[in-house]
Parts: sequence; structure tokens; C-alpha cells
Amino acid sequence: MQSNRRTFIKSLSAASALVATQGLAKPFGVAPAYIPNLKKISPNDKIRFATIGMGIQGNFDTNAALRNPGVELVAVADLYDGRLEHAKTAFGKDRSLFTTRDYREILAKPDIDAVLVVTPDHWHDHITIAALKAGKNVYCEKPMVQHLNEGKAVIDAWKKSGKTMQVGSQRISSASFQEAKRLVEAGEIGPINYIESNSDRFSAIGAWQYSIPPDASTQTLDWDRFLGDAPKRPFDAKRFFRWRNYKDYGTGVAGDLFIHLITGVHYVTNTMGPTRIYSSGNLAYWKDGRDVPDVMSCIMDYPKTDQHDAFQMVLRVNFANAGKISNVTRIIGSEGQIEFSEDNLIMTKKKLPAAPGYDGYDSFFTFTEPVKQEFVKQYDAQYPPETRTAEPVKEIKFEAPKNDDAHAKHFANFFDNVRQGSQGTIEDPVFGFRAAAPVLACNESYFEKKVVYWDPVTMTQQNPSAKPKSASGVKKPIATSKETTKKS
Ligand SMILES: NC(=O)c1ccc[n+]([C@@H]2O[C@H](COP(=O)([O-])OP(=O)(O)OC[C@H]3O[C@@H](n4cnc5c(N)ncnc54)[C@H](O)[C@@H]3O)[C@@H](O)[C@H]2O)c1
Repeated sequence: MQSNRRTFIKSLSAASALVATQGLAKPFGVAPAYIPNLKKISPNDKIRFATIGMGIQGNFDTNAALRNPGVELVAVADLYDGRLEHAKTAFGKDRSLFTTRDYREILAKPDIDAVLVVTPDHWHDHITIAALKAGKNVYCEKPMVQHLNEGKAVIDAWKKSGKTMQVGSQRISSASFQEAKRLVEAGEIGPINYIESNSDRFSAIGAWQYSIPPDASTQTLDWDRFLGDAPKRPFDAKRFFRWRNYKDYGTGVAGDLFIHLITGVHYVTNTMGPTRIYSSGNLAYWKDGRDVPDVMSCIMDYPKTDQHDAFQMVLRVNFANAGKISNVTRIIGSEGQIEFSEDNLIMTKKKLPAAPGYDGYDSFFTFTEPVKQEFVKQYDAQYPPETRTAEPVKEIKFEAPKNDDAHAKHFANFFDNVRQGSQGTIEDPVFGFRAAAPVLACNESYFEKKVVYWDPVTMTQQNPSAKPKSASGVKKPIATSKETTKKS
């Protein structure tokens, strides 16, 4: 954590204490460190939730959440007044929707069960931790944190709170990701040796040049709060509305897009993560003042574990790919390959015959006649006819059902766990951080031009001069939600 971050948190606590003395309920300052289960939610109760950050994804998340029964949006926090106004018409039609610029007012409301944290990345850890301390269940957008050193504090807060927390890489709840997981677990493609995945784009909006409202000013939005723990600077509407382009607030293409690819791979393979991460790239096309690259590739080494063999993963984002774009993930094993996107999946299976064959593009033709005859004699003795035929290449296609709604299903998993008082979501903070850490390491690798060594078991960065520990379980791993007990 940087020192400006600490100063910021201190001033936030002071401001919070003031809010508390002014009569709001008190998750801040003088309140206990953690507020245990404020309220049990019975199966018939509606889960009352609030969205913090009602920008593009805040709207998509809120709508996806509301496609589930038994839930209700009751409050919204955002820093731009236009978005609070828009939320009132979009979500508050027949009733009053509580809106505020200050998320702490939402955390202080005892009748709110859950919050969706859908702010820029640099706010994720602060709001998530404060919400867990205030006794809220939390759905936090990806990437869970902005920097490598912020993940453990979130995990710690989640464990201490006993609350449900889920990270929002909703694609893993799609039918095709679930099918890919089933196939890999069933051993259909044999031991995995290589994974590649790309996420290319070529458009201004795809490259994050989002529209800026003409009324943007320090009157209509809270610039100082937006900056949070980022360096102070004068108001700049581009930075507020296109924050992804700046490393002070976002996490670049790695945190925006690699994270989806890695989350999918971790989900499908049950891996804990890579031990060695290297990335490189450059700013090739979108030279609009951004300080993050628009072309980036990374190579990650995943060590052998109880769950999988060692494999290499190569990821790419190219925001200036003017060719035919085909974004897929390929998981390659020694008996087959799975190629999948959110909507469909193709598995190709090929098994080699035991007999290696000879002749053709081979050294056999360079032998003398007597040596050839002796070779064939020995080959026939070693490989009877039944070992010589390869099974035909099989291609199996899986189409996701047309009404497959991964986003709503991801929320269904969150809400089900909230109702049960369980911490066991499909993407809990331990899983979320294990997926986020390699992408944050990509940024560190890119900006500092170095290889990052990571221990995915203990979730700690390794000293480059020390040998990385294997992920096979020498150290005691931090428990995932599946290993933690239910709340009382
Ligand atoms: N899961 C996905 O597929 C997916 C897709 C897009 C974005 N995201 C994630 O969602 C998050 C938001 O992205 P976006 O595209 O919606 O950004 P956005 O800029 O459209 O919206 C962010 C909103 O947060 C508000 N905000 C900023 N700081 C705040 C604070 N301290 N308190 C309350 N509100 C605050 C801003 O006013 C803004 O309206 C990011 O973390 C992003 O990575 C996830």
C-alpha cells in the first residue's frame, strides 16, 4: 500500500467518524471492527441490495441481478449526478430509490443486505472492505483489486465478516464454460500442456473512448472523491469517464480483459495459478493521452499440481487488430483440444497409435537396403497391425442454450449463498484474487520490464533471486470458500 493511500484512508476514517456522530448508523470510526450478521434473510424475504457505481457495468449488473426473483434494488451511489438521475428513471419508476454521492450512507443503512461494487478498479478494495465491515454481502466487479498487495486485506475482511462475497467475472457461469470444465475434469483431452486465449478489438469504444456527457464539471460530479487514493490533479473529464486509460485508476488491458480469460481458465482447470509471469506490449494506435498499452501479450508458467500437469498459458489483447477477429480460448491437451467462447465449444480429439510409423518425411529412405529390411523386420515384431491405426479425429460441438443467461446465473449463485448464509460462491475472494494476481503481475512485468515470480498457494510475490515454490502444496494453502464453514 502506498503512503498516499494510507493518508487517504486516515482522512476517510476521520470523515466517517464525523458522519457517524451526525446520527447515521455507525459502521465507521467508533463502530465495532466488524458488524456480524445484521439480519438473517429467510427464504421468503427479498434481498435488498444497492449498487455503488452506476456507470456502464453498474447498469448491466443491476439489470442482471434483477432478472433473479426475490431481490430488490433500494439504493444507488454514484459520483456523477446525471447517473443518479438516470438510475431514478431506469430503476426507481414506481417507488423512491435512495441515491447519494457518498457510498458510506448506503453502508450505514441497516436494511440493505448486499452491495454491488461497480466503481473504477482503484476503489474496489476500499469499498469492499468497508462494506464487509458494515455487515453487507458484497458482489465486487473484476478485477477484485488494483494492485498485488491489496488482495489479502480483502480476503481477510471477507473471512472476518462471515459475509458472502462474490467477484464478478460472470462468463464462468455460462453453459459453455461449465461444459469445458466438465470435459477437462473427465479427462477428455488428457493432460493439459498449453492454453492460449485472445481478446482483440478494433473500435474507438472498444478501446475505451467512452462518451463524455457535455455537462461534466466539478458541480455535477465529485472529482476529489473519484481520485480517492490516486495522485491529486485538477479536474479532467476524460480521466473521470475514461478512467481505464490511466494506470492511476484502472488496470489496463490485463485487468480489463486478461482477467476474463484467466478466470475462465482457472475455473475450467481448477488451477491455483502461475508461478512465473512475463508480459510485453506497447501503445501502438490509440495515442490519446493514455498511459497504458493497447497491445499486450503475456506468458505464464503454471506448475504441475495435484489438479493438472505443468502448462504454459499465452494471452493477447490487440486493440488495433484491423484483420478478421476471432476471440477464443484454446485448452490443449495431449489427447485433444477444447476451443470455446461464451456461446459455444468445439472439442477435437486425436489419439496417437502406439506404432510411430516410418517412411514418408522420415530418415528411413536414407538407409541402405539391408538396413531397411532389418528395420522393417524389427518394426513388424514390435508393432502388430492393431497398434498401427489411429482412431479417427473426433469433433464434438456444444452450443449453449439460446436463453443461457450467464450474467443472471452469476448473480443467482451470489444471492443463493446470501440466503443460505454461506460463503461458498462460484467466485469467492480467494478464487477472485488468484485470478486477479496474475493480471496485476502482468502490469508489473510490463511497467517494470521484469519477470514476476508468484506463489499461487500462499498468494505472495516471490523474490526474483529466490527459487519460486511449487504449487503442489508444500505450504498450507489459504482456504477457499469451499473449505470455510457456514455462518452461524
Ligand atoms: N464483468 C464484466 O464483464 C465487466 C464489464 C465492464 C466493466 N466491469 C468492471 O466494472 C467496473 C466499472 O466499470 P464501468 O465500465 O461501469 O465504469 P464507468 O466509468 O462506466 O462507471 C463507474 C461509475 O463509478 C462511479 N464511481 C467512481 N468512484 C466512485 C465512488 N467512490 N463511489 C461511488 N461511485 C463511484 C462513477 O461515477 C461511474 O459512474 C470496473 O471495475 C470494471 O472493470 C466489468
